[in-house]
Amino acid sequence: MRPTLAAAGRGRILFGGDYNPEQWPEETWQDDVRLMKDARVNSVTLGVFSWSKLEPEPGAREFGWLDRLMDLMHEGGIGVVLATPTASPPPWMGRLHPDTLPRDADGRTEVWGGRQHFSHSSATYRRYAAAITEDLAARYGTHPALTMWHINNEYCTFDYGDEAAAAFRRWLREKYRTLDALNSAWGTAFWSQGYDTWDGILPPRHAHYLKNPAQVLDFRRFTSDMLLECFTAERDIVRRHTPHTPVTSNFMPLWIGQDAWRWAEQEDVVSVDLYPDPRDPLGGQRGALVQDLTRSQARGPWMLMEQAAGPVNWRGVNHPKSRGLNRLWSLQAVARGADAVCYFQWRQSRQGAEKFHSGMVSHAGEHGRTYQEVRQLGHELARIGSSVTGSQIVSDVAILHDWHSWWAGAHEGRLSAEVDLPEVLTAWHRALWEAHLATDFAHPEHDLSGYRLVVVPQLYLLTDAAVDNLLRYVHGGGTLVCGFLTGVADEDDRVRPGGMDARLRELFGIRTLHEWWPLEAGETVECEGFRGTLWSEEIEAEPGVARTVPYRGGELDGLPAVLHNGRAWYVSTLPEPEALRELLASVAEGAGVRPVLAGLPDGVEAVRRGELLFLLNHGREPVTVEVPGDHRELLGGEKVTGSLTLGRYGVAVLRS
Ligand code: GAL
Repeated sequence: MRPTLAAAGRGRILFGGDYNPEQWPEETWQDDVRLMKDARVNSVTLGVFSWSKLEPEPGAREFGWLDRLMDLMHEGGIGVVLATPTASPPPWMGRLHPDTLPRDADGRTEVWGGRQHFSHSSATYRRYAAAITEDLAARYGTHPALTMWHINNEYCTFDYGDEAAAAFRRWLREKYRTLDALNSAWGTAFWSQGYDTWDGILPPRHAHYLKNPAQVLDFRRFTSDMLLECFTAERDIVRRHTPHTPVTSNFMPLWIGQDAWRWAEQEDVVSVDLYPDPRDPLGGQRGALVQDLTRSQARGPWMLMEQAAGPVNWRGVNHPKSRGLNRLWSLQAVARGADAVCYFQWRQSRQGAEKFHSGMVSHAGEHGRTYQEVRQLGHELARIGSSVTGSQIVSDVAILHDWHSWWAGAHEGRLSAEVDLPEVLTAWHRALWEAHLATDFAHPEHDLSGYRLVVVPQLYLLTDAAVDNLLRYVHGGGTLVCGFLTGVADEDDRVRPGGMDARLRELFGIRTLHEWWPLEAGETVECEGFRGTLWSEEIEAEPGVARTVPYRGGELDGLPAVLHNGRAWYVSTLPEPEALRELLASVAEGAGVRPVLAGLPDGVEAVRRGELLFLLNHGREPVTVEVPGDHRELLGGEKVTGSLTLGRYGVAVLRS
C-alpha cells in the first residue's frame, strides 16, 4: 500500500503554499511563521526553485539555511512538502555542460536566465538531478517536518537536440523492433520518407512543409515518457529513503504535454495547479472540469497544489479576484474532492519575473484584503477538515478523454484549426455542469461499467481496445453519447476505412460518412430545434436503424445532425450551449441519472461529497436555494430548515 494524501493531512485539509524564503532576509521568516499560524497554514512547499542556493557550484552543498527553515516550520507546527529543485538548474550547469540545455524544433538552444532549461534526455542533467535528490532525501528523510515529496515542477519541456534524438531512436526501436514496422506505422510511403537506417530518424525538427503526423505523435509520446522517466528516477530515490512519505509532482491543468493518466498511476498523490481567469464568466466551470479530471486521475482525494490568491502575471491583462472569489473557488475544489488547498505562493515576491503575481500575503501585507481573506479561509477549512477529508464523490456520468487522441487530432494538417480539444471538452463538461450532473473523467480503455452514461466529446483516435470497450459498455446496458470526429483514426493515426471505425458506424446507425464540413469561426448551422457550431458532417443513416434530428437548410438539409440508435447517440456538430445541455440532460434522465439537487437557481453549483452537500453561488447576487429537510451548516454552524440564502459568491456546507 502506497502512502496517500491522508498520511500528510492527518484529518486536516492541507492549507498553505509554495514558500520561497530564500528570497527574503531571515528576519522575515519569524514573521512568516507568525502570519502562517494566524491564518491556520499547516503546509508549505519548500525548495521548488532552490537549486543554485543548495548547490552554488558543482558538487557543493549548502543545507544550513534549509536546516533552519525545516526546524522553524516544525516548531511552528507546519508540515513541509519538500521539493527537489530540478526544474531550474543553476547557471553553472548550462555554462559547464551545454549538453544539459534543450533545443527547440528550430534548433535554438534554451539557456538559463528563465527556468525549465533542462533536457530530459541529458545524462549529465539526470546525474546532477539524482545527486541533489539523493542528498536531500538523506538529509531530510527523517526530519519531523517532512510530510510529502514534490518532484520537480510542472514537467513541460520539449527537446529536439542531439541527445534527445538518440533517445528518441532508442525509444522507437523498443516500440517497433524493425524498420519495416516503423515505416508502416508512420506511412512513410507518403512523400518519399522511407527509412533505411535507424540513424536517419530525427525528432520532428523544423521542416519545409507539414511534418509526418505519426512521427509527431510518437515524438509527443516519447517526450511524455522521457519526462516521466525523470520523475520516476527522482521518485525512486526519495522512496528508498522514505517509503512511507507520499510523492507527487504538480500537473498543469489540461496540459497537452503529459499523458496524465499514465503519470497519475506513478504518483502517490495527484496534484494540479489551477488558475481560472477571474474575469472569465465560465471560470468556475473551467475550474470544475480540471477538478473532476484530477479527482478521476487520483481515484479519490487530490491536492490543489497551486492557485492564485489574486492576479497572475502571465495573461495579457491580469485581474485580481473580487471579494469572496478566492474562497468560493477554494471551497469548490474541496467540494470536488480536494483534501489540500494551496497557493503559489506564500509571500508575494519583490523581485524576479513574478513580482506582480499575487501571493497569500500580497505587497499590501497582513492588513491587505488578500491576506485577510486567506486567513478567513484558513479558519474555515480548519473547521470543516475532519468532516470532509477522505470522503468520495459518486458520479453516474463519465467523460472520456485521452492524451494520445488529443496529440493526433492536433496535427497541423487537420481540417479545421478552429477545433480546439480543450474548448470542445469544456463545452460538453459545461453542459453536464449546468445540468447539475456529477461527472467523472475516464480513459477510453477504463472499465466503464459503473457509469450509467458515458460522454465522448471527441476521441479522434481510438485504439481497437477502446472501440471494444465502448461496444462492451453499450451492449452491457450503458448509454453512450459521442461527439463529432470520434473514432476516425487507429492508434498509428491511420484513418479508418470509411472515415470512422466500422463497428462504431454500425453502433450509431451510420451507413456512409460522405464528408466532413467544418464551420468557420462564429458560423452556425441550422438543425431542427437548435443551432450547431464548429463542425458538421454529411452522413447517410442506415435506413430504419437510427432516429435522427436533421440539419435544416444549406448543403446538409435533411441529413442527420444527431443519430440515436438504442442507447448510442452520435452528435455530428457542436450544439450551442443550451441545446447541448438540454440534450445531455434528457439523455441522462433516460439513463436514470438524477441531478445532484432538483430546482437549483442558475449559477448555483451543488456537489455531494461523502455525507455533505456543498452549495456554491457563482453569481454576484444573493439566491435562495430549496433544501428539503433539516441540516446543519458547517462553516457558520447554523441550523438550516427547508431553504437557505447564499450571498454573492456564497458557500454552504450542509450535513443532514
Ligand atoms: C506555475 C508554477 C509556479 C508559478 C505559477 C504562477 O505554473 O508552478 O512556479 O510560476 O505558475 O502562476
